[in-house]
Amino acid sequence: VSGRTRAQVLRATRDELASAAIEEAALDARILVSAALGVDTTALVARPDTAVEPETEALLRAMIVRRIGREPVSRILGEWEFWSLPFRLSPDTLVPRPDTETVVEAALAAFGDRERRARILDLGTGSGCILVALLSELPQAEGTGVDRSFGALATARLNARRHGVADRAAFVLGDWSAAIGGRFDLIVSNPPYVDDGAMAGLAAEVRCHDPPLALRGGPDGLAAYRVILHDAVRLLRPSGLVVVEIGHDQAAAVSRLAGQAGLELVEVRRDLAGCPRAIVAALA
Ligand SMILES: C[S@@+](CC[C@H](N)C(=O)[O-])C[C@H]1O[C@@H](n2cnc3c(N)ncnc32)[C@H](O)[C@@H]1O
Repeated sequence: VSGRTRAQVLRATRDELASAAIEEAALDARILVSAALGVDTTALVARPDTAVEPETEALLRAMIVRRIGREPVSRILGEWEFWSLPFRLSPDTLVPRPDTETVVEAALAAFGDRERRARILDLGTGSGCILVALLSELPQAEGTGVDRSFGALATARLNARRHGVADRAAFVLGDWSAAIGGRFDLIVSNPPYVDDGAMAGLAAEVRCHDPPLALRGGPDGLAAYRVILHDAVRLLRPSGLVVVEIGHDQAAAVSRLAGQAGLELVEVRRDLAGCPRAIVAALA
Protein backbone atom coordinates (compact mmCIF):
# COMPACT_ATOMS: atom_id res chain seq x y z
CA VAL A 1 0.00 0.00 0.00
CA SER A 2 1.41 3.34 -0.90
CA GLY A 3 1.11 5.81 1.97
CA ARG A 4 -0.12 9.37 1.86
CA THR A 5 2.30 12.16 1.11
CA ARG A 6 3.33 14.73 3.70
CA ALA A 7 1.22 17.36 1.94
CA GLN A 8 -1.85 15.12 2.03
CA VAL A 9 -1.35 14.27 5.69
CA LEU A 10 -0.86 17.92 6.57
CA ARG A 11 -4.02 18.99 4.77
CA ALA A 12 -6.11 16.18 6.29
CA THR A 13 -4.82 16.96 9.78
CA ARG A 14 -5.61 20.65 9.39
CA ASP A 15 -9.13 19.85 8.16
CA GLU A 16 -9.74 17.38 10.98
CA LEU A 17 -8.62 19.87 13.62
CA ALA A 18 -10.62 22.67 12.02
CA SER A 19 -13.78 20.58 11.97
CA ALA A 20 -13.25 19.93 15.69
CA ALA A 21 -13.26 23.75 16.12
CA ILE A 22 -9.57 23.96 17.05
CA GLU A 23 -8.80 27.64 16.60
CA GLU A 24 -5.27 27.53 15.19
CA ALA A 25 -5.89 24.38 13.15
CA ALA A 26 -3.36 25.12 10.39
CA LEU A 27 -0.54 26.03 12.78
CA ASP A 28 -1.24 23.12 15.13
CA ALA A 29 -1.38 20.70 12.19
CA ARG A 30 2.00 21.91 10.99
CA ILE A 31 3.56 21.50 14.43
CA LEU A 32 2.05 18.06 15.11
CA VAL A 33 2.81 16.59 11.68
CA SER A 34 6.41 17.84 11.90
CA ALA A 35 6.76 16.38 15.40
CA ALA A 36 5.36 13.01 14.31
CA LEU A 37 7.80 12.98 11.40
CA GLY A 38 10.66 14.16 13.59
CA VAL A 39 11.50 17.04 11.25
CA ASP A 40 11.22 20.78 11.70
CA THR A 41 8.34 22.72 10.18
CA THR A 42 10.55 24.06 7.36
CA ALA A 43 11.58 20.58 6.24
CA LEU A 44 7.93 19.59 6.25
CA VAL A 45 6.92 22.09 3.57
CA ALA A 46 10.19 21.72 1.68
CA ARG A 47 9.47 18.06 0.81
CA PRO A 48 5.70 17.80 0.38
CA ASP A 49 5.72 14.70 -1.84
CA THR A 50 7.61 12.39 0.52
CA ALA A 51 5.54 9.37 1.56
CA VAL A 52 4.57 9.09 5.22
CA GLU A 53 5.36 5.80 7.01
CA PRO A 54 2.59 3.86 8.78
CA GLU A 55 4.36 4.28 12.17
CA THR A 56 4.33 8.05 11.68
CA GLU A 57 0.64 7.94 10.79
CA ALA A 58 -0.05 5.99 14.01
CA LEU A 59 1.94 8.44 16.11
CA LEU A 60 0.17 11.37 14.49
CA ARG A 61 -3.26 9.76 15.04
CA ALA A 62 -2.60 9.63 18.80
CA MET A 63 -1.52 13.29 18.76
CA ILE A 64 -4.64 14.37 16.86
CA VAL A 65 -6.89 12.55 19.33
CA ARG A 66 -5.20 14.37 22.22
CA ARG A 67 -5.46 17.76 20.48
CA ILE A 68 -9.15 17.23 19.74
CA GLY A 69 -9.50 16.40 23.44
CA ARG A 70 -8.29 20.01 23.98
CA GLU A 71 -4.81 19.17 25.14
CA PRO A 72 -2.56 22.01 23.98
CA VAL A 73 0.16 21.26 21.42
CA SER A 74 2.81 22.17 24.01
CA ARG A 75 1.63 19.37 26.34
CA ILE A 76 1.48 16.87 23.50
CA LEU A 77 5.08 17.69 22.56
CA GLY A 78 6.16 17.82 26.22
CA GLU A 79 8.15 20.99 25.70
CA TRP A 80 7.68 24.59 24.67
CA GLU A 81 9.87 27.50 23.74
CA PHE A 82 10.42 30.51 26.00
CA TRP A 83 13.01 33.24 25.42
CA SER A 84 14.09 31.17 22.37
CA LEU A 85 15.03 28.24 24.64
CA PRO A 86 13.15 24.92 24.69
CA PHE A 87 11.69 24.07 28.14
CA ARG A 88 10.61 20.58 29.20
CA LEU A 89 7.13 20.44 30.72
CA SER A 90 5.39 18.10 33.12
CA PRO A 91 1.80 17.93 34.38
CA ASP A 92 3.01 20.04 37.35
CA THR A 93 4.31 22.95 35.29
CA LEU A 94 2.46 25.78 33.60
CA VAL A 95 3.18 26.04 29.87
CA PRO A 96 5.46 29.11 29.59
CA ARG A 97 3.58 31.96 27.89
CA PRO A 98 5.08 34.54 25.52
CA ASP A 99 3.56 37.26 27.76
CA THR A 100 5.89 36.18 30.53
CA GLU A 101 8.89 37.21 28.42
CA THR A 102 7.81 40.74 29.43
CA VAL A 103 9.02 39.91 32.96
CA VAL A 104 12.44 38.88 31.63
CA GLU A 105 12.64 42.00 29.42
CA ALA A 106 11.64 44.31 32.26
CA ALA A 107 14.12 42.70 34.63
CA LEU A 108 16.99 42.93 32.13
CA ALA A 109 16.14 46.51 31.18
CA ALA A 110 16.13 47.60 34.81
CA PHE A 111 19.16 45.52 35.75
CA GLY A 112 21.82 47.59 33.99
CA ASP A 113 25.30 46.09 33.59
CA ARG A 114 24.79 42.45 32.64
CA GLU A 115 28.25 41.44 33.81
CA ARG A 116 27.68 42.38 37.43
CA ARG A 117 27.28 39.75 40.11
CA ALA A 118 23.75 39.43 41.38
CA ARG A 119 21.40 37.20 43.35
CA ILE A 120 18.01 36.43 41.85
CA LEU A 121 14.93 34.93 43.50
CA ASP A 122 12.16 33.46 41.32
CA LEU A 123 8.97 32.79 43.28
CA GLY A 124 6.70 30.15 41.71
CA THR A 125 9.37 29.03 39.27
CA GLY A 126 7.27 26.30 37.55
CA SER A 127 9.30 25.07 34.57
CA GLY A 128 12.06 27.44 35.69
CA CYS A 129 11.61 29.48 32.52
CA ILE A 130 12.05 32.98 34.01
CA LEU A 131 15.05 32.10 36.17
CA VAL A 132 16.79 30.05 33.47
CA ALA A 133 16.23 32.79 30.86
CA LEU A 134 17.68 35.41 33.25
CA LEU A 135 20.69 33.28 34.20
CA SER A 136 21.38 32.65 30.52
CA GLU A 137 21.54 36.44 29.97
CA LEU A 138 23.38 37.34 33.18
CA PRO A 139 26.56 35.24 33.28
CA GLN A 140 27.66 36.39 36.76
CA ALA A 141 24.28 35.98 38.41
CA GLU A 142 23.09 33.13 40.58
CA GLY A 143 19.52 32.35 41.45
CA THR A 144 17.03 30.46 43.57
CA GLY A 145 13.74 29.16 42.22
CA VAL A 146 10.98 28.40 44.73
CA ASP A 147 7.83 26.41 44.12
CA ARG A 148 5.24 24.64 46.23
CA SER A 149 5.11 21.84 43.67
CA PHE A 150 7.81 19.22 44.04
CA GLY A 151 7.16 17.95 40.51
CA ALA A 152 7.64 21.43 39.03
CA LEU A 153 10.98 21.79 40.82
CA ALA A 154 12.26 18.54 39.28
CA THR A 155 11.40 19.86 35.83
CA ALA A 156 12.91 23.28 36.56
CA ARG A 157 16.15 21.60 37.64
CA LEU A 158 16.21 19.60 34.44
CA ASN A 159 15.70 22.75 32.37
CA ALA A 160 18.51 24.54 34.22
CA ARG A 161 20.85 21.64 33.42
CA ARG A 162 19.73 21.54 29.82
CA HIS A 163 20.57 25.22 29.36
CA GLY A 164 23.88 25.10 31.19
CA VAL A 165 22.98 27.24 34.21
CA ALA A 166 22.47 24.50 36.83
CA ASP A 167 25.70 25.38 38.66
CA ARG A 168 24.26 28.86 39.34
CA ALA A 169 20.70 27.77 40.18
CA ALA A 170 19.18 26.27 43.32
CA PHE A 171 15.61 25.00 43.49
CA VAL A 172 13.76 24.99 46.77
CA LEU A 173 10.40 23.65 47.87
CA GLY A 174 8.51 26.32 49.75
CA ASP A 175 5.48 28.51 50.31
CA TRP A 176 6.54 31.68 48.47
CA SER A 177 9.52 33.18 50.32
CA ALA A 178 8.63 31.93 53.82
CA ALA A 179 11.74 29.71 54.00
CA ILE A 180 14.06 32.12 52.18
CA GLY A 181 16.63 34.30 53.90
CA GLY A 182 19.34 36.70 52.76
CA ARG A 183 19.03 39.57 50.32
CA PHE A 184 18.46 39.64 46.57
CA ASP A 185 19.18 42.08 43.75
CA LEU A 186 16.22 40.86 41.76
CA ILE A 187 13.00 39.16 42.83
CA VAL A 188 10.88 37.93 39.93
CA SER A 189 7.56 36.17 39.93
CA ASN A 190 4.74 35.13 37.68
CA PRO A 191 2.30 34.14 40.41
CA PRO A 192 -1.13 32.56 39.91
CA TYR A 193 -3.49 35.49 39.27
CA VAL A 194 -6.80 34.14 37.95
CA ASP A 195 -9.62 35.08 40.31
CA ASP A 196 -12.02 32.36 41.41
CA GLY A 197 -14.87 33.77 39.31
CA ALA A 198 -12.82 33.65 36.11
CA MET A 199 -11.57 30.06 36.50
CA ALA A 200 -14.63 28.45 34.92
CA GLY A 201 -14.39 30.74 31.89
CA LEU A 202 -10.84 29.73 30.94
CA ALA A 203 -10.30 27.80 27.71
CA ALA A 204 -10.35 24.02 28.23
CA GLU A 205 -6.68 23.92 27.14
CA VAL A 206 -5.81 25.99 30.21
CA ARG A 207 -8.50 24.92 32.70
CA CYS A 208 -8.02 21.19 32.17
CA HIS A 209 -4.28 21.01 31.45
CA ASP A 210 -2.41 23.74 33.35
CA PRO A 211 -2.06 22.86 37.05
CA PRO A 212 -4.66 24.66 39.25
CA LEU A 213 -1.87 25.63 41.67
CA ALA A 214 -0.35 27.68 38.84
CA LEU A 215 -3.59 29.50 38.04
CA ARG A 216 -5.70 30.14 41.13
CA GLY A 217 -5.19 33.59 42.57
CA GLY A 218 -7.97 33.46 45.18
CA PRO A 219 -11.26 35.40 45.37
CA ASP A 220 -9.83 38.60 43.80
CA GLY A 221 -6.84 37.06 41.98
CA LEU A 222 -4.42 39.00 44.18
CA ALA A 223 -3.70 36.59 47.03
CA ALA A 224 -0.14 35.75 45.93
CA TYR A 225 0.83 39.42 45.36
CA ARG A 226 -0.10 40.31 48.95
CA VAL A 227 2.40 37.78 50.27
CA ILE A 228 5.14 38.22 47.67
CA LEU A 229 5.24 42.03 47.70
CA HIS A 230 5.01 42.21 51.48
CA ASP A 231 7.93 39.81 51.90
CA ALA A 232 9.99 41.46 49.13
CA VAL A 233 10.75 44.34 51.49
CA ARG A 234 12.60 41.94 53.80
CA LEU A 235 14.46 40.24 50.93
CA LEU A 236 15.57 43.08 48.66
CA ARG A 237 19.01 44.64 48.74
CA PRO A 238 18.78 48.46 49.01
CA SER A 239 19.16 48.85 45.23
CA GLY A 240 17.15 45.71 44.45
CA LEU A 241 14.11 45.36 42.24
CA VAL A 242 11.01 43.24 42.21
CA VAL A 243 9.36 42.37 38.90
CA VAL A 244 5.99 40.61 38.89
CA GLU A 245 3.78 39.59 36.02
CA ILE A 246 0.19 40.83 36.26
CA GLY A 247 -3.14 40.11 34.60
CA HIS A 248 -4.19 42.65 31.95
CA ASP A 249 -6.53 44.48 34.39
CA GLN A 250 -4.42 44.25 37.56
CA ALA A 251 -1.90 47.11 37.12
CA ALA A 252 -3.68 49.52 39.47
CA ALA A 253 -4.46 46.93 42.14
CA VAL A 254 -0.97 45.42 42.19
CA SER A 255 0.69 48.87 42.17
CA ARG A 256 -1.45 49.76 45.17
CA LEU A 257 -0.41 46.56 46.97
CA ALA A 258 3.24 47.36 46.22
CA GLY A 259 2.78 50.80 47.76
CA GLN A 260 1.11 49.37 50.84
CA ALA A 261 4.00 46.93 51.25
CA GLY A 262 6.50 49.82 51.29
CA LEU A 263 7.67 49.57 47.68
CA GLU A 264 7.87 52.31 45.06
CA LEU A 265 6.58 51.75 41.54
CA VAL A 266 9.39 51.99 38.95
CA GLU A 267 7.61 50.92 35.79
CA VAL A 268 4.50 49.28 34.40
CA ARG A 269 5.70 47.32 31.38
CA ARG A 270 3.43 46.36 28.51
CA ASP A 271 3.44 43.12 26.51
CA LEU A 272 3.50 42.87 22.70
CA ALA A 273 -0.28 43.25 22.58
CA GLY A 274 0.01 46.54 24.49
CA CYS A 275 -1.46 45.22 27.76
CA PRO A 276 0.14 46.15 31.08
CA ARG A 277 1.94 42.87 31.88
CA ALA A 278 4.65 43.45 34.48
CA ILE A 279 5.21 45.74 37.44
CA VAL A 280 8.70 46.78 38.42
CA ALA A 281 9.09 48.10 41.96
CA ALA A 282 11.94 49.05 44.31
CA LEU A 283 12.28 49.79 48.01
CA ALA A 284 10.70 53.16 48.71
C1 LIG B 1 1.63 31.10 36.91
S1 LIG B 1 2.72 29.77 37.38
C2 LIG B 1 4.28 30.41 36.80
C3 LIG B 1 5.29 29.35 36.44
C4 LIG B 1 6.53 29.91 35.73
N1 LIG B 1 7.25 30.85 36.56
C5 LIG B 1 6.12 30.58 34.44
O1 LIG B 1 6.16 31.82 34.38
O2 LIG B 1 5.76 29.89 33.47
C6 LIG B 1 2.79 29.99 39.15
C7 LIG B 1 3.67 29.02 39.90
O3 LIG B 1 3.58 29.30 41.31
C8 LIG B 1 3.58 28.09 42.03
N2 LIG B 1 2.94 28.33 43.33
C9 LIG B 1 1.62 28.43 43.61
N3 LIG B 1 1.44 28.69 44.91
C10 LIG B 1 2.67 28.74 45.48
C11 LIG B 1 3.14 28.98 46.81
N4 LIG B 1 2.31 29.20 47.81
N5 LIG B 1 4.48 28.99 47.01
C12 LIG B 1 5.34 28.77 45.99
N6 LIG B 1 4.95 28.54 44.72
C13 LIG B 1 3.64 28.52 44.46
C14 LIG B 1 2.84 27.12 41.13
O4 LIG B 1 3.13 25.78 41.44
C15 LIG B 1 3.33 27.56 39.74
O5 LIG B 1 4.48 26.83 39.37
